[in-house]
Amino acid sequence: MIWLLTGGAGYIGAHVARALVAAGDDVVVVDDLSSGLTERIASLPLVRADLTEGPDPLAAAMTAHGVTGVVHLAAKKSVAESVQRPVHYYEQNVGGTAALLRAAATAGVRHVLYSSTAAVYGESTEELVDETSPTAPSNPYGESKLAAEWLIRSAAAAHGMSWASLRYFNVAGAADSVLADRGRSNLLPIVLRAADREEPVEIFGGDWPTPDGTCIRDYVHVEDLADAHVAMAESLRTGSVRSGVFNVGRGDGVSVLQMLDAVHRVTGRPVRRRVVDRRPGDPARVVADPSAIAAAIGWRAKRDVDDIVGSAWKAYRPGT
Ligand SMILES: NC(=O)c1ccc[n+]([C@@H]2O[C@H](COP(=O)([O-])OP(=O)(O)OC[C@H]3O[C@@H](n4cnc5c(N)ncnc54)[C@H](O)[C@@H]3O)[C@@H](O)[C@H]2O)c1
Repeated sequence: MIWLLTGGAGYIGAHVARALVAAGDDVVVVDDLSSGLTERIASLPLVRADLTEGPDPLAAAMTAHGVTGVVHLAAKKSVAESVQRPVHYYEQNVGGTAALLRAAATAGVRHVLYSSTAAVYGESTEELVDETSPTAPSNPYGESKLAAEWLIRSAAAAHGMSWASLRYFNVAGAADSVLADRGRSNLLPIVLRAADREEPVEIFGGDWPTPDGTCIRDYVHVEDLADAHVAMAESLRTGSVRSGVFNVGRGDGVSVLQMLDAVHRVTGRPVRRRVVDRRPGDPARVVADPSAIAAAIGWRAKRDVDDIVGSAWKAYRPGT
């Protein structure tokens, strides 16, 4: 099967591309390279296009390559930037999705697999969030990703496509140094850089209502996440899944201090820390109930936190 993969030059997209190819599928990447890197997808066809420029180049690429499914990861993802530039985030994440769906309908695409996020749940108070938990995003990033979920659901129904939205929790780790997360907003890359440079890490709040006072998140290895895409893509193709929203996490909460301990354990380097004020909009705890995706397609995370940290450290310092 031939998939058009948006955002395939990005951190997660490149892992998904590699996994789809390893599973025997063909992949055409669409990416504007705003944060993506061509070295991550050196052997794949790349259509360099900004989704927000409209559906025409996308429909042309779909038709030219015989695409029958779309895997949609291209998005802007900085929570802080989304608060500063909400219109830009809606234009990019909702407008870009609209252009892609218009192109998909024109080109007769049958399946849409979308990259959503735990940010759609906002400040949940539940021990584990499942797909029926309330969606109340606490920033424009999460709002734009949720609006795109709704748009996909409606457009897919109107055009007879099957679809799935995967709500990723905190994605971390790497297959190798080429595919590593080079962003500056996720906790693990920040902590590894700090450990390497012996600089202190800022912890946003030490008085949260959690056992050690720091925020708790659910970290999932990017290669497990890529495997979830392969399994879901196959289920859409065969028709065993027609539609749905699925959490992709490990179902295991890890606090910021526990992550710092894991980095110390795996790298042998203690991580200095400095507690600063809480950030507005940060929930105390967001941990997935991943049972729906296990029931639907049999996917479960195989890698634990030490695997995540170890792979990210190896990718950060290829010699280690
Ligand atoms: N990293 C995480 O922990 C996480 C968690 C939940 C959801 N997500 C979602 O996963 C997806 C990928 O995230 P990532 O961490 O790989 O980010 P990334 O920035 O590495 O990848 C995004 C890719 O999309 C491309 N892109 C952005 N806007 C585009 C546009 N308008 N047209 C064409 N290409 C465009 C970028 O160049 C980049 O290659 C995003 O949709 C994000 O919302 C990420």
